[in-house]
Amino acid sequence: MSTPTKVTRKPAAGIEPEAARVADKYGRFEPDGRTFVITNPRTPRPWANLIANRRMGLAVTQSGSGFTWIDNSQLGVITRWQQDLVRDASGKVLYIRDADSAAVWSLAPAPTWPAYDRYQCRHSLGFTTFITECQGIRAEWTLFCHPTETVELWKVRLVNQSGRPRRLQLCAYFEWCMGVSPDPRREFHKLFAETGYDPVRSCIFARNHMWDVHSEHYGHWNSDFPYFAGLSCTEPADAAQGDKAAFLGMYGDPAAPASLGAVEWEPHFGRHEDPIAALRSPVMLGPGDDRTIGYVLAIETDRAAMDALVDRSCDLAFIDAALAAVKDDWLQRFAPLHVDTPDETLNHLANYWLGYQAVSGRLWGRAGYYQQSGAYGFRDQLQDSQVWLPLDPNECRDQIRLHAAHQLADGSVLHWWHPLTEQGLRTRFSDDLLWLSFVTANYLRETGDFAILDEPVPFVDDRHPAPIREHIRRAFEKSFSRTSPRGLPYIGGGDWNDGLSAVGLKERGESIWMGHFLVGLLNDWAEALARLGDAAQAQEFRQRRDRLIHAVNEHGWDGQWYMRATLDDGTKLGTASADAGRIFLNAQTWAVLNDVAPPDRAVRCMEAVKQHLVTDIGPLLLTPAFGKPDPRVGYITRYAPGLRENGGVYTHAACWAVAAAGKMGDAELVGRLLKSLNPAQRDPDRFWAEPYVMPGNIDGPESPYFGRGGWTWYTGSAAWFQRVILEWVLGVRAEWDGLRLSPCLPLSWPHASVRRRYRGSDYRIDIERTPDARAGHVFVSLDGRPLPDNLLPPPSSPGEQHKVVVRFA
Ligand code: GLC
Repeated sequence: MSTPTKVTRKPAAGIEPEAARVADKYGRFEPDGRTFVITNPRTPRPWANLIANRRMGLAVTQSGSGFTWIDNSQLGVITRWQQDLVRDASGKVLYIRDADSAAVWSLAPAPTWPAYDRYQCRHSLGFTTFITECQGIRAEWTLFCHPTETVELWKVRLVNQSGRPRRLQLCAYFEWCMGVSPDPRREFHKLFAETGYDPVRSCIFARNHMWDVHSEHYGHWNSDFPYFAGLSCTEPADAAQGDKAAFLGMYGDPAAPASLGAVEWEPHFGRHEDPIAALRSPVMLGPGDDRTIGYVLAIETDRAAMDALVDRSCDLAFIDAALAAVKDDWLQRFAPLHVDTPDETLNHLANYWLGYQAVSGRLWGRAGYYQQSGAYGFRDQLQDSQVWLPLDPNECRDQIRLHAAHQLADGSVLHWWHPLTEQGLRTRFSDDLLWLSFVTANYLRETGDFAILDEPVPFVDDRHPAPIREHIRRAFEKSFSRTSPRGLPYIGGGDWNDGLSAVGLKERGESIWMGHFLVGLLNDWAEALARLGDAAQAQEFRQRRDRLIHAVNEHGWDGQWYMRATLDDGTKLGTASADAGRIFLNAQTWAVLNDVAPPDRAVRCMEAVKQHLVTDIGPLLLTPAFGKPDPRVGYITRYAPGLRENGGVYTHAACWAVAAAGKMGDAELVGRLLKSLNPAQRDPDRFWAEPYVMPGNIDGPESPYFGRGGWTWYTGSAAWFQRVILEWVLGVRAEWDGLRLSPCLPLSWPHASVRRRYRGSDYRIDIERTPDARAGHVFVSLDGRPLPDNLLPPPSSPGEQHKVVVRFA
């Protein structure tokens, strides 16, 4: 076992050489890319897996710490967890005790941190396995949830390698939360909890008579937590406990629970305890014996259903079948898209991990180790759902429907809302409502399925369904009504950047980025409307677009780059003469992406991006960071300098820089950005965060921890990174009339290939470049026949197989 990692305060400059990569330090990808194996449990920060099905899930780190939720990872939390990122020792534990020697250890490091002879934590798609060897016992502990049922399953395999008979005791332990997390007021919350023990099923169960939520449906703190949960084991239990003090001992230590070895436990269940579950089973192993044991944590809405789920699932064959189904489901999910580039770790991310992070973490779990959200963000999960477009566009369609149903009849939308309680937040953000049209346009380009626009969906405050096309129309109308006398969109209480929360509260401040965003949407919907036969409306949109482009270029150009916004008092944000926030990334990248910038300005603003914002750890969201709070701007200025949006690399927006570089044909910049954003290419002692998923942010130069990644899992960059790799690096983009093939490969890549499903047919696309090739000019052949340009027409019917070759001219 190695000693704890020392924090490196002064990072080395430059991108770390391949040799120093994570592979050599704390772990590595398995060759198939679907598993990341952690071999040293003392990672610089917790390295988590977010495992979910559509309803429930669990978070688990390399130490074994984590929690379980159902339906809402904030309001429906089953097992208790406290965010302590240093000890990372809170959650579910599986103890093992040797009844002869009295030695106790855990099957994941926390909380006993034993001297394992061997340790691996294998984070995979849909499950995590701890492999440990300790005191002659080899253990494999796999945690996952059933692909469709609301039950968490553990498969535990114990092998006696010691050459002598062993009398062991296996004990599962966690605290019940059964409600809203975090749960800091335990003394209050435990007044409502109830536990019990069913000896026939060896099942400890829990419920809660008070759920501290407020909603129309449930009232204010006046309802039961709507779930029952039960822990059971495939082996008969010889002891069960429901009270924390009785299990640990008063002032006891989770590393050595006082009662673990006692022959008899005096059980404490009912309504007057500090609710936990501790379930102990004896396990006798002869020399060489190999035994498998299962645990289930079943969650249902009533006791009878929960019992039935325990009865059904607490069975080794059931658990094995579920694990096989989980593995197969994730493979099938990602099968329609496969990229192969010279950067192996990027392939692993693009083929599996980015999609997994977006689906399991963002769309289903809506949880990270750093944020238990549970809510849907109107703009967030819509953007995330684009991850489905090349995989299964119907899933994106469902997301569009769900979000449309969270629009108000006046066209505005809930910034976020909680499933279960439907509590939501109405705000003055200016962009939220428009993401519905953004994602729908991308869905239309991908599928050609205009029928979605006729689908009836109600509004939050008007149950009369209206077609999605009408939802989109109302959002545009609402947005148009918020235009300044200069023809620019008002920013209101912020736009994509939440932290610009005070810029336009008086409805005078303007957003240049919103201008760019809206130009793209007007363009898209002019096209869509024309295709729908509404020539007049299409024409109106084109005229609006042209006026807006003019206004942005007239009032938004700062001389070397685009400004970001104007404040209510007219002060410019993102201007060269400012002390802080002189230049903002999004105001440049979206000007390029949406063709707002004329060609010369596009070149100049991207030069400014390279000069001021691009660092070896990625492009900063803005620079310099705000050094002190500015109430006129908003909470972005209240973050410590260099953190998150305040001058860090905000990876969600950084992905758009890759896209803009690709659009400009700047292969050198594409290569640099790709490398800097790939978490598996970082030195983990500088980066700290997981190498297999995207962090939300990376500290900028004003932070003493420049280059430190944070807020992993819960970030919109997962779906976006997958999308920009496919669309702007490999250059395979769905347009209205086919797939555009316009790659911008990093200079060090001689070739790459993509397998992609498109409108039901499968395409294998090989991209080849010669060293002197010019970016942007390609010859394309389809099944051996040259095409007139680089637009691949849609397949004539689904189920076709095609081979495409893209050669740089
Ligand atoms: C957070 C929000 C997201 C916003 C971003 C930038 O990630 O969830 O909606 O766009 O911050 O401020």
